[in-house]
Amino acid sequence: MTNTIIESIASRTTTSLYDSSVTLSDEQVRELVRIATTAPTSFNLQNWRFIAVRTPEAKARLRAIAWDQPKITDAAVTFIVCGQLADHSVMSQRLAPAVEVGIMPAQMVPGWEGAARGLYFEQPQRQRDEAVRTGAIGATALIYAAHALGLGSTPMIGFDAEAVAREFALSEDEVPVMLLSVGKALPENWPQKPRRPVAEVLDFA
Ligand SMILES: Cc1cc2nc3c(=O)[nH]c(=O)nc-3n(C[C@H](O)[C@H](O)[C@H](O)COP(=O)(O)O)c2cc1C
Repeated sequence: MTNTIIESIASRTTTSLYDSSVTLSDEQVRELVRIATTAPTSFNLQNWRFIAVRTPEAKARLRAIAWDQPKITDAAVTFIVCGQLADHSVMSQRLAPAVEVGIMPAQMVPGWEGAARGLYFEQPQRQRDEAVRTGAIGATALIYAAHALGLGSTPMIGFDAEAVAREFALSEDEVPVMLLSVGKALPENWPQKPRRPVAEVLDFA
């Protein structure tokens, strides 16, 4: 029996060549981000932001500080996936909707807040690790959402992080974790590259 979700996950590839004539509507971009933000985050902090770069002017500005990668101007959109430094003080605000709909008892909130404070307060390395985890997991969800909708994607670390932060006005607490182009893939793209054998990457303990 085939499982379409697993087939979809397993058949994703990185797109290098995009059909530059294919664009995405605001609604399509919003839908990709809506699906991506169903991904999990630590304490449901949702410490991410997605900047959808898609005007010709903004694409050119981004490409210039991203190793001149043609995907950025050819793909319909390139997201600057930002992770925000983990901050326990936003916790009650982030958990409020789960309390309101009756999923989480209100008396649990201080416990989560205290745990997050213990983990992140005055711990810059952990705050940043969490920002990168959040951005990476959000980008991953977006990659698979795009694939399921018939779109190609390209995760990219080939960019100047400081220049991106400056050019696109990231806040002090935001880390540009990844660029992620999304658009219509051309048929000439490479197939998926072989992977290391599972036996080489899996240990049981
Ligand atoms: C964190 C990360 C950074 C990457 N950076 C780039 C990049 O800057 N430019 C690029 O063309 N591909 C980039 N890639 C794509 C990888 O080269 C690609 O995923 C890998 O070769 C495996 O190929 P596949 O995704 O088609 O299986 C990146 C992928 C990841 C996950």
